[in-house]
Amino acid sequence: MAEKYSRATLTRNFLRTITRIKNPDEMLADAGDAGLDKTLGVWDLIILGVGAIIGSGIFAVVGIAAAGGDSSLGAGPALMISMIIAAIACIFSALCYSEFATMIPVAGGAYTYTFATLGEFAAWMVGWVLMLEYAIGFIAVACAWSNHLMQFLNGFEKFLPSWLANPPVWLVNDPFSASRLVAVDPDAYVPYIFGVPICINLPAILIVLLITAILVKGTRDSAKMAGIMVFVKLAVIALFVIAGAFYVKPENWTPFAPNGIEGIFAGAFLIFFAYIGFDALATAAEECKNPQKDLPVGIIGSLLVTTVVYVLVALVLTGMQDTAAPVPAAFLKAPMAYCMMIANQNWAAGLISIGSLAGLTSVLLVLELAATRILYAMSRDHFISKRFQKLHPKYKTPALLTWTVGLLAVIGILTLNLDVAAELCNYGTFTSFIIVCVAVLILRKTDPERPRPFKVPFSPVVPVLGIITCGCLMVYKSLQPSGSALLFPVWLGIGAIIYLLYGFVKNRLHENKIHNEKVHFKSKDYLNK
Ligand code: ALA
Repeated sequence: MAEKYSRATLTRNFLRTITRIKNPDEMLADAGDAGLDKTLGVWDLIILGVGAIIGSGIFAVVGIAAAGGDSSLGAGPALMISMIIAAIACIFSALCYSEFATMIPVAGGAYTYTFATLGEFAAWMVGWVLMLEYAIGFIAVACAWSNHLMQFLNGFEKFLPSWLANPPVWLVNDPFSASRLVAVDPDAYVPYIFGVPICINLPAILIVLLITAILVKGTRDSAKMAGIMVFVKLAVIALFVIAGAFYVKPENWTPFAPNGIEGIFAGAFLIFFAYIGFDALATAAEECKNPQKDLPVGIIGSLLVTTVVYVLVALVLTGMQDTAAPVPAAFLKAPMAYCMMIANQNWAAGLISIGSLAGLTSVLLVLELAATRILYAMSRDHFISKRFQKLHPKYKTPALLTWTVGLLAVIGILTLNLDVAAELCNYGTFTSFIIVCVAVLILRKTDPERPRPFKVPFSPVVPVLGIITCGCLMVYKSLQPSGSALLFPVWLGIGAIIYLLYGFVKNRLHENKIHNEKVHFKSKDYLNK
């Protein structure tokens, strides 16, 4: 009796409980009952994938990754090598995502795969970390969208009323960016209430509300809208590559790697952000018509299309601008538009601004879609309230959940420091990629007979290489002093506490309910005999 309650037994029971795995068959059965509309085909997936991937990474971050002058540690013309390195790191994980997505084609992506392999607690933590990638990433890209819109409107200063071309700083910035602007611009003004700066980034809030409304209306419509955005952004990138090619000066490609290997890796780390998004496709698996066949093609296809596009941009960009010398600030903010402007092609620069807005809009659509689908799967598993599973009677989308994510994003826009948010987004992504690679290896051992319509080639080599490449990039970042390196463990700690106070308790209550129902049925059978 004493043994029954000994600390060791309690610990053992607790560990057994929190590592309880959810059988993939149970997940498939749950998904079958859910009733999400199955509307996405292979082209929808490639479009959603390219829509999710090509955004602020190639329209903005690429300038910082390329800058290889004296005080910058970017790659210089070797940027194309950095892009290929980042793509290879993603492809290892993409192959692992494909194996899972075809084996367990249900909503939730990495969260779901973790539940099938590492158990309840790890699954919750992965879901929690994925919120960094998708929800925090959503907020960061919404604010980048606002910056691009302001840049675009500012370009039409002569034709637009000044309230539109040059609105007050506090109406178009987050509090941290606004404070930075106030420090350098004496005309910039931010109101304070009880010592707190009041900044309402109106364009970012409006785009978040618009995207949320579109997603509530339906995934099919979102895919259609993403299709238009993808077409616009690919068209302006093609315009840049073709028109820019005439202004390339081959002498700009030497020295090829001004900061050597270190610069190439620093560039790869930065430009990794530009590839984030392909994993979001796996989270929409439940809405695919034919996930087994279409998902791997969608995931790998969108990654390959993107890599080709990125390398071409890198080639032209570093051929037009000398990146081995210090580059101007305008190049760092919007490199493609800047290069077109110095080539006296202002019309092309304007079109590129429109393309970047389209690019960011489609990234926003997919990031919010992914965030809601993961939370949807978590609600099904009793980690968050069941109320969020309710589907819209007409559109068959999780409307309450989508609006909740949208409103939380608005709160984030009003309060978050975006530099830190973007870095936290990278941490979330690395963690989920590593976990998916680990999970593939585990499930191959624990459930070798399960049908795998797509198998990672050369396993375990490919998953292990995925773990090593993403792990190295994460460690590389953690060794540099930054707010995000400290905040990431804090985020994990908060997640663990929420699990113990809510998810753990709710799951035990659910288990008790199931147990009582079984006992009730058994006694009814017994009495009826
Ligand atoms: N890959 C996405 C972008 O570049 C996150 O905006």
